[in-house]
Amino acid sequence: MKRILVVSSANMDMVMNVDFVPVGGQTVIDKGTYSYVPGGKGANSAVAFSRLGAKCIFLTKLGKDANGDVLLSLYEKEGMDISYIKRDTEVASGLAAILVEKTGQNRIIVFPGANSRIELDTVSEAIAGKPDALYMQFEINYDAIIHAAIEASKNGIPIFIDAGPANKDFPLEKLPELTVFSPNESETEAFTGIAPTDEESCKRASLKLLERVKTKYIVIKLGGRGAYIFDGEKGIIKPTYDMPVVDTTAAGDAFTAGLTLEYLRTGDIYTSCDFANATGSITVSRHGASSSIPNSNEVADFLAKNG
Ligand code: RIB
Repeated sequence: MKRILVVSSANMDMVMNVDFVPVGGQTVIDKGTYSYVPGGKGANSAVAFSRLGAKCIFLTKLGKDANGDVLLSLYEKEGMDISYIKRDTEVASGLAAILVEKTGQNRIIVFPGANSRIELDTVSEAIAGKPDALYMQFEINYDAIIHAAIEASKNGIPIFIDAGPANKDFPLEKLPELTVFSPNESETEAFTGIAPTDEESCKRASLKLLERVKTKYIVIKLGGRGAYIFDGEKGIIKPTYDMPVVDTTAAGDAFTAGLTLEYLRTGDIYTSCDFANATGSITVSRHGASSSIPNSNEVADFLAKNG
């Protein structure tokens, strides 16, 4: 079983399913629903790794509050190694406010709280355990991300980065050699100024990213159009599956986790992308963040039915 160290974020998501999003100054009384769902880009990927058959070692920071208690009990239930999850007594657990429109399109605001106070010593301890891979996103303090990447690189541990949320000021140049760097459409545009609309613009954006990131593969997530894989020379769009979209929250997190795990198992980025597309497609057909992520049997059934 692959042991994957996720150094990333955990949030409680307050999700509102709404007809439409109000404009500034407007109050809307909506007949939709709201709920509190465990989320956070890191936790969503950690849940995906666990459900897809990896041993996930999840390193994050939670507040010493009720949301932190709920989140921690989910990670235990999912079978994660939680020994590197610390509780912060001064700052609350991360919280995300998410508005989901009828189309499944979402808008998210994150209050990072304890996520931005991950300690470098904890990161070093977790890397010393020699996981099979290090997986990160950009929703925690940047010094922890750079430190984890450098320590992993020194120990020969492959590094996979899901480049969300977008921040053009992230010091990409400080990252050592990666295996996969995977931004979505808006993150690609934030880092390069190029909107990845077709194969030609995906290639231009990938080449621009490679001026700042050292990586074996760039994988640009293109939402309903699939993903673009660039190996430094050639690029190809792998289309995704046709699924009714209910809620896109966590689809990118589940996609990149699926891609990482299947790549570690097979070494084939192209078939791993099919696996990731299937994982993401099931995720968009369900409501919520961690609640929408499939397990390995569901992905296997989906691939058997859909080719
Ligand atoms: O990618 C989706 C996630 O982004 C949500 O679960 C929310 O918590 C934010 O981190």
